[in-house]
Amino acid sequence: MRPPAPFLRSVRAEGLPGRGWPWEVPAVRALEDGLDLDAAVVMLCGDNGTGKSTIVEALAVELGVNAEGGSRNFRFATRETATPLAEHLVVTRRAGPRPVDSFFLRAETYFNVATEIERLGGPLDSYGGTSAHERSHGEGFLDLATNRFGPGGLYLLDEPESALSVHGCLALLAVIADLAKAGAQFIVATHSPILLACPDALRYETGPDGIAPIEYDDAGPVRLTRDFLADPQRFVHHLLASD
Ligand SMILES: Nc1ncnc2c1ncn2[C@@H]1O[C@H](COP(=O)(O)OP(=O)(O)O)[C@@H](O)[C@H]1O
Ligand SMILES: [Mg+2]
Repeated sequence: MRPPAPFLRSVRAEGLPGRGWPWEVPAVRALEDGLDLDAAVVMLCGDNGTGKSTIVEALAVELGVNAEGGSRNFRFATRETATPLAEHLVVTRRAGPRPVDSFFLRAETYFNVATEIERLGGPLDSYGGTSAHERSHGEGFLDLATNRFGPGGLYLLDEPESALSVHGCLALLAVIADLAKAGAQFIVATHSPILLACPDALRYETGPDGIAPIEYDDAGPVRLTRDFLADPQRFVHHLLASD
């Protein structure tokens, strides 16, 4: 049995308009039926452009976490990130304590988060003691995950693997799995077959038909990576031949 979620149990969209972005994205539409989030680790995989970021970002806004990445204390925006979906989301929470910390990480805008952490001043202990501008993108992100993320926190991560080596992904997987056991909750959009292997995760795949629960072995990134690694040269040969 998968342990229940400490904070968020489900999300549902109400009163969605019919036409235009993001209402016509099938995964967004599927939220009208409600999405079970009742697990310490919820993972969304699915091809590019299927709505993962739209959903994770809207959830972050609805929860009051900065839409460009950061914690509840960060209020900055370097581009228009307002997502119209947030106001239609209805989140069901578990009765009990609120998260002691929350953080939304968009890998693509982590640079801006690093700038904001510097601008706010104060101790950098939560971030490993060094400004993220003086670390590589991957190092900075692992600093954040290792030093800032903690038990009892709620973390929304959008493609956190972007800056990480395979080794770094394994390190992040260990952080997520350990903290999930210690009362944290993670909602993660990812293409990483490594991160998707997180034990007891509730996994979904977004696609043209909406959102569906998926087993690890059936998830797109896992199947495709397996096929590729089984015989890379043959795979590449077929790929090029089919052009
Ligand atoms: N601000 C926007 N305005 C219009 N369309 C957008 C916007 N952001 C994303 N889209 C489109 O919405 C769809 C879902 O995007 P996104 O949620 O970023 O997908 P994913 O994260 O799964 O790759 C894509 O077709 C994308 O091009
Ligand atoms: Mg995305």
